Amino acid sequence: MENEKSALEQLIKEKLFSFKDGMDRKTTDLLFDSRTLKAIYEIMGKLDIDYIDYPISTGKESGVFKAYVHGKPIAVKIYKMSTLKFGKIETYIRGDYRFAKEKLTRGNVVYVWAKKEFTNLSELRKAGVLSPLPIGFHKNILAMGYIGTRELPAPILKDADFDPEKVFVEVVRMMADAYRKANLVHADLSEYNMLYYRKKVYFIDVGQAVNIKHPSSEIFLRRDIFNVCTFFKKYGVESNPLEVYSTIVPT
Ligand SMILES: Nc1ncnc2c1ncn2[C@@H]1O[C@H](COP(=O)(O)OP(=O)(O)OP(=O)(O)O)[C@@H](O)[C@H]1O
Ligand SMILES: [Mg+2]
Repeated sequence: MENEKSALEQLIKEKLFSFKDGMDRKTTDLLFDSRTLKAIYEIMGKLDIDYIDYPISTGKESGVFKAYVHGKPIAVKIYKMSTLKFGKIETYIRGDYRFAKEKLTRGNVVYVWAKKEFTNLSELRKAGVLSPLPIGFHKNILAMGYIGTRELPAPILKDADFDPEKVFVEVVRMMADAYRKANLVHADLSEYNMLYYRKKVYFIDVGQAVNIKHPSSEIFLRRDIFNVCTFFKKYGVESNPLEVYSTIVPT
């Protein structure tokens, strides 16, 4: 413990972390075991990151920070080593043939998870589905394009102002492109995992996204559709999840 604290202080002293003032117990609790601190040093060198700025979000399983590479903002997602539930994430990895060769242990499952999110971002973007640009990954850390203005990260769809009819159509089209062109189902799609920026939707948080051959991909897709339809219904958009399903999955 003593070690971890001093390693964090070291990072702050070297001005690699600049969010000291806004740092609360939640933030420090979340991220800074010694392995993670080491991984932060390493990825900073590897990707030429100038410094890590404030946390955009601190959740139970990860924290997302704004950082800078040559003065330009990026987003750095750091998965917590200890709270990522092995059993829960294992199902999203094991059934996905792309990761069939990965050995999964309690120690490395988080690394595979970060790699999987990176791979999914790459495949989504290749298919033209708007999502953060994948920049790199290292151990339990993922670096990606930052979505937002200089001052503020883009809001999640839940907190955004948008034209419901238009955005509903856009989201369904994105699900269809993800399915048909990237062979992916998001598998945790909701108003919390979409950002709204300059009148466009971005899929984020794609670690759990699975290839369509995953044995549960159909269940995941139906759940995504249900979440989306339920959210847009609050804005008066009527839709039928079964019909939406058939527009996404080719018959
Ligand atoms: N590339 C990005 N640019 C700007 N903001 C981002 C980016 N990625 C994530 N965020 C912000 O960070 C938040 C958390 O990211 P994400 O949804 O990927 O993590 P999470 O796994 O849901 O974290 P949690 O542990 O809270 O569940 C998002 O809701 C969003 O506000
Ligand atoms: Mg999320």
